[in-house]
Amino acid sequence: MHRKLVVANWKMHGSLAANQQLLEGYIQRLKPLENVDVVVCVPYPYLGQAQSLLQGTSIAWGAQNLSKDLAGAYTGEVSVAMLQDFGATHVIVGHSERATAYCESDENIATKFMQAKSHALTPILCVGETLIEREAGVMEMVVAKQIDTIISMYGASMFAGAVVAYEPIWAIGTGLAATPEQAQAMHEFIRGRIAAHDKDAANSLKILYGGSVNSQNAVQLFVMQDINGGLIGRGSLNAEEFEGICRAAN
Ligand code: PGA
Repeated sequence: MHRKLVVANWKMHGSLAANQQLLEGYIQRLKPLENVDVVVCVPYPYLGQAQSLLQGTSIAWGAQNLSKDLAGAYTGEVSVAMLQDFGATHVIVGHSERATAYCESDENIATKFMQAKSHALTPILCVGETLIEREAGVMEMVVAKQIDTIISMYGASMFAGAVVAYEPIWAIGTGLAATPEQAQAMHEFIRGRIAAHDKDAANSLKILYGGSVNSQNAVQLFVMQDINGGLIGRGSLNAEEFEGICRAAN
């Protein structure tokens, strides 16, 4: 139903020299992939570098955050228009590492999502529960609240053509990925939650899985019906490993 999407999330890794090598590795290795879209989300200062190296290739680039405001006296913030100045097509919104470290509320995240969406930049909304929440059996409630905040503030149609990444916090960077069945169950729940308000939006939404995806476990995850691709942290920092993940999606 959906063309797969694989998104690299470099987090706060890289340097001009290291990025050049990594991106050249991506370009060389990912050239023959026809059934998967690949996006690399780089730290802000490297957007220009990504643009100059990736322009004209099949690999798109984006950022890991954006401001909820459009312009003004917001020291240290980066607006949607600035990202678009550098050709960004995607932006990660509400990653759990930011939400916890920088106290981002669901409402702020929803506004960032809306800003990206209404300026034709594809938002990648991260949702997911902690281990304590999963063990308590409230994971669906937690994820539902994150999704519902956007629905109640801006409407379910905001999700049309957007991307949600289900990233259980206990699976991020731990080497312990969710099982394909755990991920599929949550993806189905997310799609259903949105479909209850807007079927078309739910059907056009891509839902990625993120959290310790590697070239070994990627196929089993990507074959699940509601898993439309992956958001890849550590596995994207090595071109060969990332190629394996993208090939699994392809
Ligand atoms: P990971 O990170 O692949 O290193 O677990 C995923 C993410 O945080 O987006």
